[in-house]
Amino acid sequence: MKNETPPSIRLADYKPPAFLIDHVDMTVRLDGPCTQAKATYHVRPNPSLVHANGHGQLVLDADALGPVDVRVNGAQIEPQQDRKHVAFTLSTREGSKVEVATTLDPASNTALSGLYLTNGVYCTQCEAEGFRRIVPFLDRPDVLATYTVTLEAQQAACPVLLSNGNPSPIEALDDGWHSITWHDPHPKPSYLFALVGGHLDQVRDSFTTRDGREVALSIYVEPGKAERATFAMQALKRCMAWDEERFGRLYDLDVFNIVAVSDFNLGAMENKGLNIFNDKYILASPTTATDEDYQRIDAIIAHEYFHNWSGNRVTCRDWFQLCLKEGLTVFRDQEYTSDIYDRTIKRITDVRDLWAHQFPEDGGPLAHAVRPDSYREINNFYTATVYEKGAEIVRMIASWLGPQRFRAAMDRYFSTYDGQAVRLEDFLSAMKAEAGDLGAWPDFLGWYTQAGTPQVSVDWQADTHAGTAHLAFSQSTSPTPGQPDKKPLPVPCRLALVDEAGDDLAISPDHVVVQGGRLVGDQFLLDSAHGSLQFTDLPSGTVRPSLFRDYSAPVNHMVEGLDDSDRLFLAAKDSNTFSSWAHLQSLYSDALQRRYHRLTLGEPLGDDHALFEAMIAAGLCCEIDHDTDQAGRAATITLPSAHDLARTIGRNIDPLHVEEARISFSRDLCADRGTSVVEALERFELEDSGDIAPEAAAKRSLVLALLQHLSRCETPDVDDLLGRALRGAGGMTMRIKTLALLLQRRSPLADQALEAFDAEFHDDPLTMDKWFAIQAMNGTADTLVALEGHRSYDRENPNRVRSLLGAFATGNLSGFHAADGSGYQLMAERIGTLDGRNPQLAARLASAFRTWRTMDAARQTFAQAALETLQSMPNISTDLSDIVTRMLE
Ligand code: ARG
Ligand code: ZN
Repeated sequence: MKNETPPSIRLADYKPPAFLIDHVDMTVRLDGPCTQAKATYHVRPNPSLVHANGHGQLVLDADALGPVDVRVNGAQIEPQQDRKHVAFTLSTREGSKVEVATTLDPASNTALSGLYLTNGVYCTQCEAEGFRRIVPFLDRPDVLATYTVTLEAQQAACPVLLSNGNPSPIEALDDGWHSITWHDPHPKPSYLFALVGGHLDQVRDSFTTRDGREVALSIYVEPGKAERATFAMQALKRCMAWDEERFGRLYDLDVFNIVAVSDFNLGAMENKGLNIFNDKYILASPTTATDEDYQRIDAIIAHEYFHNWSGNRVTCRDWFQLCLKEGLTVFRDQEYTSDIYDRTIKRITDVRDLWAHQFPEDGGPLAHAVRPDSYREINNFYTATVYEKGAEIVRMIASWLGPQRFRAAMDRYFSTYDGQAVRLEDFLSAMKAEAGDLGAWPDFLGWYTQAGTPQVSVDWQADTHAGTAHLAFSQSTSPTPGQPDKKPLPVPCRLALVDEAGDDLAISPDHVVVQGGRLVGDQFLLDSAHGSLQFTDLPSGTVRPSLFRDYSAPVNHMVEGLDDSDRLFLAAKDSNTFSSWAHLQSLYSDALQRRYHRLTLGEPLGDDHALFEAMIAAGLCCEIDHDTDQAGRAATITLPSAHDLARTIGRNIDPLHVEEARISFSRDLCADRGTSVVEALERFELEDSGDIAPEAAAKRSLVLALLQHLSRCETPDVDDLLGRALRGAGGMTMRIKTLALLLQRRSPLADQALEAFDAEFHDDPLTMDKWFAIQAMNGTADTLVALEGHRSYDRENPNRVRSLLGAFATGNLSGFHAADGSGYQLMAERIGTLDGRNPQLAARLASAFRTWRTMDAARQTFAQAALETLQSMPNISTDLSDIVTRMLE
């Protein structure tokens, strides 16, 4: 049986709502399967529309609701109700009071959208379309209302009752019940509504805004976990201060609450004044959290907090504009992390992620514009493209404007559109209004509307004797689903010409002839298919170009005319630290691709001696303990990810050879220069303080980058070294990472270490997620089946499922893409089962199949069969069917 594909919703069909709802008065009585939700809406006809007759249809969105009682101006009416709507007639001459009431069973809501129960705690997730699963509403972001919410519950079951805005005192009711009323004075779309009720511990603090208002801060966690929320609280205060300082944004309510819950579909949610988090991004302690966990907690707390302005005060007109809030807020959180930690390392980390996740998305069947023109299921558009590519576009705009103008443009954006639901065009017009004398405004909107990664080829030619050089650029973008023809985009290339000493040459406009674009400061803005820079009067000596500094545009660029020795020179000398990292990465990437192709042809792998020399020079220039840039050196000696290598290979992929290419590189590096690596590590003595401070974390990252290479050596003393590193681990980072390396090399020490970990943490699910993940990333489909039987596993919890199935599908190339199809088959079976409970989670896991057409023919056959089985499932959800259909089209 073939399922029908769900209908598409199109941006071109946008119509403003016929009615507006200005205020919502809501009462929710939390009472298990008899939970009642009632709401009163102050409705009025939309004054910007012409209403011909004296009445019109109010069509409220609804989803998975039972019978709804509706009253209009006090009188009960019989609405038309189907699965997705509740509709009735209203006057268009005047406002109406509409009351709706329904009964809910939060425990049976396994989709985790709307009102649900997590470990006995009531909570909500309304973005994108969850509010309509609580009460019927105009559940669209351009309907903004103030909310007054009364929560009632048994005092013993729900001592804590939270919603958006500011609270009034809690009141005792009869029979052990109590109630509280929250009022949110800021008009907001329904996706920002939230409520929480249950037993929770509270971590309190306070923050005084720059204008002297005191804000009560609380983080609520499941009982007994308060100690693990102290880092999160520090992070919250830090990012509040940063947003005042850097963007002039102040908090606007008397309280700010965060709740950490253990069942959550995504990372976290920016509900007004009441952020709800996946507890994975709140809870941390040195013995259970890694350095990465701490950094992610910091970034996500900041991200959700920053939404208070970029998202909440200024929100989206419709869901096509999702990137208006997400791309901008990711940009803001990236800037925060760059300021708090290390700017270059942050840039490297983000660019690696973009290459590993967004580029494959943009080059495959799920490719979509940052602002798509249509969607079948909006939940499937919370993607790397909308978030991360969206942030790259803001970054290009910010760097085009420069810091002062960008800040002025952001101020203008916030003040012009405060309290409104707007489009990307509005954001761009605020940016453009501050461009001043920068000349014609580049077509940045094109970056939002055109899908696919632009390919930029650059050709470099220099004539040392004549003192001239020529840079020729050309750009093109391959077709993506629904967009066969592509136009040139404005591509800013920040560049310098580097002399023999490694210094940047001053480029005088008088000595450059520019075509097909503009040169502004150190940015060449290529805005045509072809462009060039012709330099004259260069000083004597060899000159080399440093291009796309700090990764100034999210493009895939290839440079002709620079040989390996030029790139090695630039890797060592380029004053832009990001670029010097990138030069070496491009050499690694070439070496790995060469190895891959030789492996497939059965040829000898050849020698990368010169590159090994450069790596050692860059990674071990001095003693590990006595250098400030340990994190930088770790990044320098880290190879491109397996995902990235697969992407650059592009077609007919054998994942085993992808993995072997990387393994063989490290193995040959150690055969060549292993003694230097071991000596360096010996000096470090492999004792780890476990201190979470950035300097200690940086040292760990370097040690781990070295161990990563060494772990590929076949000599048995490597086991010994890894074993010592594991025993010397002072915290979770060294512990889990060395354990993963032991597991990866099938060391006999791994089993024992896994057992010890299990014995210590089996009743701490979040920590066990790491234990499941490293095994899923180093095992087969059979490994997964065995782990599903473990006492700490829970098929119903999204974090558990992601740590096992997600880690396997996205972090285990040879396991998921196993030659016998077992990985695909197992994933399809699990996704199919999961779809009945939690469609969003099922759809997300399924998107791991997106690279299936880049695999070799035999694998493609297995993947296609697995996808087709899913597609023909009776009762497949819209979420899953949308993903699977797009992948098979
Ligand atoms: N707005 C949230 C964030 O900051 C993401 C929530 C998405 N939730 C969903 N079910 N689609 O990133
Ligand atoms: Zn967000």
